[in-house]
Amino acid sequence: MSKPVVLNIAKIPAVLQQSLESEFELRTLHSPGDTSEISGLVSSAIRGVDLATLDQLPGLKAMSIFGVGMDKVDLAAARRRGIRVGYTPDVLNDCVADLAIGLMIAASRKIPQADGYVRSHRWAETGNVFDLGDRVSGKRMGIAGMGRIGRIIAKRLVGFDVEIRYFSRSEVRECSHERVSTLQELAAWCDYLFIAVSGSAQTRHMVDAGVLEALGPQGYLINVARGSVVDEQALIAALENEAIRGAALDVYEVEPLKSSRLTELRNTVLLPHVSSATNETRTAMSNMVVENLKRFYAGERMLAEPA
Ligand code: DGY
Repeated sequence: MSKPVVLNIAKIPAVLQQSLESEFELRTLHSPGDTSEISGLVSSAIRGVDLATLDQLPGLKAMSIFGVGMDKVDLAAARRRGIRVGYTPDVLNDCVADLAIGLMIAASRKIPQADGYVRSHRWAETGNVFDLGDRVSGKRMGIAGMGRIGRIIAKRLVGFDVEIRYFSRSEVRECSHERVSTLQELAAWCDYLFIAVSGSAQTRHMVDAGVLEALGPQGYLINVARGSVVDEQALIAALENEAIRGAALDVYEVEPLKSSRLTELRNTVLLPHVSSATNETRTAMSNMVVENLKRFYAGERMLAEPA
């Protein structure tokens, strides 16, 4: 029996590419062949799937997304066309939360700058002690978004003997920490503001100039969610004016981040959207992408379909 024809439009790990090739007739954007034969699509959360892509694939029945953020996937259009969508939640929660903690410490203790200080031989040449950082343990931690990832960030933070409060649209029953009613209130209370909400029209620029002002000159912003959640121009202004102490970012309004005022600043730690980028997590995500498609073609429910 011939294998289902699946098109991949994203940059994917080699292990996923190999599994897709062994299970399906895998096509790429460079050699899509007869597009009317394509019934499955693979993309990533970063690449997304837009309406123009769907329009070119009249026979599409299922898509399998590598990642959890659905902000670039036109779910409404897919649903209108009866296309089933699978994605890879949960398997990346631990690594995203781990990296949020890493960013917190990196920014507070100036780890990238200290590393540069040693490598550039400035320590050896001057014999000086590197600049003081800020203590993390015992501080006030605010988490915006107490979903799958926010809850694990909170769990990790408990080990730092901190106070934790959160902001989310509704009370989270599984969470014993105090919920505050506005993001502004949370920012005014905390020393570290973690962003763990989904990217969407509702959360766009949720962290604006007012929230940053409330966070204040001792406050740090940590974003492992989506760049769209933060008004980047307001953030740059706040960092330039030292209206906040620092920012540690894995995500940006436009990715990849090109040279920008952000890259000129010393009170930032900037990562290239790598929160789920570990061998273990990317393998688990890859397995889920393949399993979702296999289940679809076997007439079964996918492992995870976005709400
Ligand atoms: C996701 O899955 O949404 C991540 O941000 C991409 O790794």
